[in-house]
Amino acid sequence: MEPFPMTNTVLNDSGPQADLKVIRDPAEMRALSTRLAEEGRRIAFVPTMGYLHEGHLSLLREGRRHGDVLILSIFVNPIQFGEGEDFSVYPRDFERDVDLARSVGVDIVFAPDIEDLYPPEFATYVEVEGLSATLCGRSRPGHFRGVTTVVCKLFNIVRPRIAVFGRKDFQQLAVIRRMVRDLHMDIEVRGMPIVREADGLARSSRNVYLGDLRGQALCLVEALRLASRLVAGGERNSTAIIAAARERIEREPEARIDYIQICDETTLGDVEEVSPASVFLLAVRIGKTRLIDNHHLFEEMA
Ligand code: PAF
Repeated sequence: MEPFPMTNTVLNDSGPQADLKVIRDPAEMRALSTRLAEEGRRIAFVPTMGYLHEGHLSLLREGRRHGDVLILSIFVNPIQFGEGEDFSVYPRDFERDVDLARSVGVDIVFAPDIEDLYPPEFATYVEVEGLSATLCGRSRPGHFRGVTTVVCKLFNIVRPRIAVFGRKDFQQLAVIRRMVRDLHMDIEVRGMPIVREADGLARSSRNVYLGDLRGQALCLVEALRLASRLVAGGERNSTAIIAAARERIEREPEARIDYIQICDETTLGDVEEVSPASVFLLAVRIGKTRLIDNHHLFEEMA
């Protein structure tokens, strides 16, 4: 068998990789990952929709640490966007993404075309019931079905042993973990901490939409900080904590709360009393931009 052409550089994670490979064709990607898997190479995978920021780079660094081949996918997945959502204007900058990918040691960027993942006859979807219907699933029906379908397809094409996701999309991570368990996928799913801007705003590709309203967007992290302080001071009642957070957010003229909930980290069911296993989750529209954030209230908040 022909050796994998990037063997030397792939195993050396000490600096920028000169020979990053871009693959668009799913069949070519699958053939290469099959060959790598047969050679016993441990593939680490970070699926993204591109427009990379420090949050994505932290996932890639984690993948670099745990895999000997690091694959990044860039694909703005149309089926996870609802009608009237931002699919057509979702920020994209492929060249910049490739440069950033190279700087953190990505070996392969898989960037398929829409028609290749969703040909006209496409008819199969993957849906995690229950977990997909709550929180963001209420205001974005079909969103998680789109996510699990594309992630399942990408897993089948890329064949990773490890896949890394951000905890900012806490519900997405829970849904994907459940899919992996329920469908017996032999993949270790790692969840990485939220990366924040200096002022506390959680990094998101959508932050570019905020413009002049960026200051108001800080109400999300401030609500989380307030909730953490209340818990540190002994408050355990979810209703009281949520009421205080709601009051903070409603002070911003352009903020519209989608949900504020305190949930069990695994079932995502509401909890009355907070415990170390509960997570505070919120989704708020700041003007036209919908932002999400979350925090385990027993953990310290920067
Ligand atoms: O988190 C994202 O960027 C997307 O939902 C994902 C996991 C890449 C699927 O399109």
